[in-house]
Amino acid sequence: MVANPFKFGTVVDEPYFTDREKETEEILSILNSANHLILTGPRRYGKTSLVRRASRMTGRPVIYLDLQVVMGKDDFAAQALKRVYRMHPVEKLKKYMKSFRLIPALTMNPVTGEVDVMFRSESAGFVPLEDVFDLLQKISTRKKRLIVVFDEFQEITRIHPELDRNLRAILQQQENISYVFLGSRESLIREIFEKKKSPFYHFGYLMQLDKIPAEAFASYLQQGFHKVSDQYKTVSSMILEQTRQHPYYTQQLAFTTWEMIARSGYSDDIVLRASEEIIRNHDNDYERLWNRLNRTDMKILVGMADCELSPLSDEFSRRYNTGPSSTVFSSLQRLTQNGLLIKSAEGYALDDPFFRKWIALKRAS
Ligand SMILES: Nc1ncnc2c1ncn2[C@@H]1O[C@H](COP(=O)(O)OP(=O)(O)O)[C@@H](O)[C@H]1O
Ligand SMILES: [Mg+2]
Repeated sequence: MVANPFKFGTVVDEPYFTDREKETEEILSILNSANHLILTGPRRYGKTSLVRRASRMTGRPVIYLDLQVVMGKDDFAAQALKRVYRMHPVEKLKKYMKSFRLIPALTMNPVTGEVDVMFRSESAGFVPLEDVFDLLQKISTRKKRLIVVFDEFQEITRIHPELDRNLRAILQQQENISYVFLGSRESLIREIFEKKKSPFYHFGYLMQLDKIPAEAFASYLQQGFHKVSDQYKTVSSMILEQTRQHPYYTQQLAFTTWEMIARSGYSDDIVLRASEEIIRNHDNDYERLWNRLNRTDMKILVGMADCELSPLSDEFSRRYNTGPSSTVFSSLQRLTQNGLLIKSAEGYALDDPFFRKWIALKRAS
């Protein structure tokens, strides 16, 4: 029995990783220079996968920290230090720790075998942060410069209002470390790195991640379906048509379609049935999501599920009765902020093709 060749939800690497050659090259070149990298793009476009893979390719030591799970300014320092312990034995770090002004508590987690780090009392200032980032500087060498990845970096302001300013002041002084900042909330990321008043203004090279091009994605899908159906070309293009090359949803639909073909063989409506199965499985989530929206949000989404018109056009407003343009505009902003819509050069689009279909089906029933 062949294993399902598609994967969605978590970070992907070979053999589930496709394309991104230009982007990988660009990232490697920045990591190789003295510059820092900022990578932004919608959720589930493959930022984490891409950066993890590219930084691994450098052969340099990497610290990866997702800010979504960081609870405070001292925890930020503790979590960074914990990741240093993953790379270096406790013994080796002892001499560096001697200069720490606040000594963290280390506990061995008997289940994972990992060292957990905690600064016991919340410090008044940013002493743990300074000490830990000073340590990072010390363990980084000129030959194998450390790479530090901060994922979902827009969370920095939630963690502590002064953290960004203090972190920037520390990083500013450092050499021999490449910093990578990732973020899904594009408007927040742009505010952090492109607003003159922000401490991180122009701190690095900003890259925007797009979808995976149709041809590259198609050949990846075809390779996966080749083993289960001689209709692999048709199946692949039908999937991409449904998902519009969104990396995550494409893998999800490919996975489900592959399962169904492996179980009961190909049929002309296989992709359609697979997407219906996904929609059924998410019915609860979609319903909850839908009921949290206001009237204008609903009207906009109904219109966008129904036609290709821009929600800012007069025709759209007439057809779907969306009200004054200021209301529509703030609704579009809100829907983009919470990830339901994606804003690109071509305008606004629904992020989730299955949610789009769910709305259309509900309206039709
Ligand atoms: N290069 C890629 N090739 C194939 N699938 C990908 C690729 N990048 C991302 N994906 C799909 O998208 C999903 C989300 O990727 P992830 O790296 O977590 O995105 P992000 O960090 O932008 O939210 C993955 O689980 C995978 O299914
Ligand atoms: Mg991510």
